[in-house]
Amino acid sequence: VTVYVPRDASAVSVGADEVASAIAREAARRGESIRLRRNGSRGLAWLEPLVEVETPQGRLAYGPVATADVPALFDAGFLSGAAHTLALGPVDAIPALRRQQRVTAARLGQDEGDNLAAYVATGGYAGLRRALAMSPVDVVAEVTGSGLRGRGGAAFPTGIKWKTCAEAAGTQKYIVANADEGDSGTFADRLLMEGDPYSLIEGMTIAAYAVGASRGYIYLRIEYPHAQQMLLSALAHARAAGWLGPSIGGTDFGFELEVRMAAGAYVCGEETALLESLEGKRGQVRFKPPLPAHVGLFGKPTVVNNVVTLATVPWILANGATAYRELGTGNSRGTALLQLAGNIRHGGLYEVPFGMSLRELLYDIGGGTLSGRPIRAVQIGGPLGAYLAEKHFDTALDYESLAANGGLLGHGGIVVFDDSVDMAEQARFAMEFCAAESCGKCTPCRIGSVRGMEVIDRLRAGDVAQETLLRDLCDTLLNGSLCALGGMTPYPVLSALDHFPDDFRRTETSR
Ligand code: NAI
Ligand code: SF4
Repeated sequence: VTVYVPRDASAVSVGADEVASAIAREAARRGESIRLRRNGSRGLAWLEPLVEVETPQGRLAYGPVATADVPALFDAGFLSGAAHTLALGPVDAIPALRRQQRVTAARLGQDEGDNLAAYVATGGYAGLRRALAMSPVDVVAEVTGSGLRGRGGAAFPTGIKWKTCAEAAGTQKYIVANADEGDSGTFADRLLMEGDPYSLIEGMTIAAYAVGASRGYIYLRIEYPHAQQMLLSALAHARAAGWLGPSIGGTDFGFELEVRMAAGAYVCGEETALLESLEGKRGQVRFKPPLPAHVGLFGKPTVVNNVVTLATVPWILANGATAYRELGTGNSRGTALLQLAGNIRHGGLYEVPFGMSLRELLYDIGGGTLSGRPIRAVQIGGPLGAYLAEKHFDTALDYESLAANGGLLGHGGIVVFDDSVDMAEQARFAMEFCAAESCGKCTPCRIGSVRGMEVIDRLRAGDVAQETLLRDLCDTLLNGSLCALGGMTPYPVLSALDHFPDDFRRTETSR
């Protein structure tokens, strides 16, 4: 009997390693023969550790399993799929999975992340094979035609970025995966790298072929040691099988790829600070233009794409641009990898075509708050994303609808707060975050953020005239900052001020 226990960081953080050991011990004690496999996470965080058993009726799920539950699961006969209070039925029928349409995350949780044979058996490398039979120009056109936009947050059309790099002069070009996933409440990159690393590797290889690059780097968040291990193992397997190296698929196209650990700074997720860091320098933002697609890593034309963007490319090449384009709404084509976090009952990864309403995600899928209290505010798009209030909950989750409501989707992180939140404190936190993470290159961000904390403190202490000053300061940050860190700090501040004004008008004594 095959038993699956996830090995990704979130499952391990809630005891998956101990549960796996307990299952192995209990099986040995009872003389049951089992094959224990450590798959990636399905992304249903509240059910972790989510144990699955292979049965004639398919893979049946049990969760969340604690070590103390293991003897009872054996007593109940879970190895043959018997009923138990933790039984969830066929894993694919779990409502939170059934409601999704997984494209980029389709393989998550199925096998060990670095199992190359399983990757190939489930359609892996079909995209690269097809790409290699096409001209690089046609590969770029295919990606452009799919409507894929950058999933790091800026939503720039991927095909146009690739075209710019492909047409840039120079023989040495680079592909860089931005895996410095720093936004609050985001974990899609991590789940993909731990659960399906080959999709990123294959996506980078296709990008390299399309733009004429021979080397690539995965700039990986230092806080992701499990992803690092998985990527290193996957890279070794891919290299041994000839999917990386001087001649890929029998062609004269060669590509080599390595993992570089990041510096632990939020601003290094900004593409030019990332490139500085990758070059071994202090992670400070560069002026744009020139764009990295023209002058990037070591001064050479470079494509910098987010992990989700790159990991989606193999599917597009394997299934065709039209199949991808058919999903989604308006100019937001394909699927969104939404990550539900904070005070929410059913947190996790939800991949759905663009266009689901925020309310449906929060209540129907997320199940409301974990505390059971009403949802008061939702921050979308990281620590510098806008806060949305109840009146916005019917907004569709796509780039244009969110922008029309003063929000942004960013990398898809959605952090939920109940009615105990103090939004003035959250606004202050945005300024504090900006002050702590500023690279220091420009004045509005470096100094404005510190002044911003002081102004909010005075406002919260009852000096209402400070609101005008705060709005002026936000205007300066918005228009005078060199990069999105300073430039977007006003989003959480102003949205808190606009949608939750009462929180700023309570004096210290009445609070
Ligand atoms: P941007 O709009 O300046 O650029 C977006 C991308 O398109 C860049 O890679 C840029 O080089 C490229 N680009 C722009 N014009 C181009 C052209 N004509 N040809 C080729 N490439 C072109 O945005 P930026 O500053 O790179 O990113 C800001 C976004 O980052 C924000 O919207 C925010 O949501 C997101 N963000 C994401 C974080 C995360 O953890 N994933 C953290 C912080 C911010
Ligand atoms: Fe650096 Fe802040 Fe200026 Fe960005 S806005 S370049 S982080 S000082």
